[in-house]
Amino acid sequence: MPTMGALHSGHLSLVVRSAAENDLTVVSIFVNPTQFNDKNDLKNYPRTLDADCELLETAGCNIVFAPSVEEMYPTPDTRKFDFGTLETVMEGAFRPGHFNGVAQIVSKLFDAVQPTRAYFGEKDFQQVAIIKKMVEMLQYPLQIVVCPIVREESGLAKSSRNELLSAEERKKAAIISRTLTESRNFVPEKSVANVKAWVIAQINAVLEVEYFEIVDGNTLQPIADWAETDFAVGCVAAYCGKVRLIDNIKY
Ligand code: PAF
Repeated sequence: MPTMGALHSGHLSLVVRSAAENDLTVVSIFVNPTQFNDKNDLKNYPRTLDADCELLETAGCNIVFAPSVEEMYPTPDTRKFDFGTLETVMEGAFRPGHFNGVAQIVSKLFDAVQPTRAYFGEKDFQQVAIIKKMVEMLQYPLQIVVCPIVREESGLAKSSRNELLSAEERKKAAIISRTLTESRNFVPEKSVANVKAWVIAQINAVLEVEYFEIVDGNTLQPIADWAETDFAVGCVAAYCGKVRLIDNIKY
């Protein structure tokens, strides 16, 4: 399980599942500089190694791999991955270079650990698609296991970034999941365009939406009509103050 630390119960659900399905569970904790396109985001990313290790022990992790930047990048990684249209939308469009950095580090971690299975959370819906594509491109002999989003009581998707929210902001941030959940009631009667506009307006009343797209869950390309796919997914990124949050919902 590759992680960037600041572990929460979402991460731990992956560890528990891995411990149940495998003989040995290795969790990496590494705040990967090459996937941050915003220096402040990298600087402010929560780092809680000691607490993380304690949590991991209780969840059934056998080995924590917490390398330094120098160990993972003794020389700059100049590899450029081409994920085609999977990376030109949503996170890929708003965080240029992000998925290249994710692919760089995840491939290095796969090379180091050589897992039979690797576990990822579905909150990062586009990341999962990119990593599956990378596994196919580099022919890694491993299975990607995708685990459901774990939510706070308010519905807010668990994220290490939630720790950066004030109590007030945390309450406000619940508008994201509340809106996504409600929007399912309009499908398929209301058009894709109408649902999109409604979701954006609802969340914008409280936070600041960066994007909300309704896409085909396999290709990640925006759809214009519900009939285009039987796997429509709504993906959102929104700012709550300075904190950028993402979430998604299957229609
Ligand atoms: O999802 C994350 O926390 C990171 O993108 C990952 C997969 C650990 C790579 O640094």
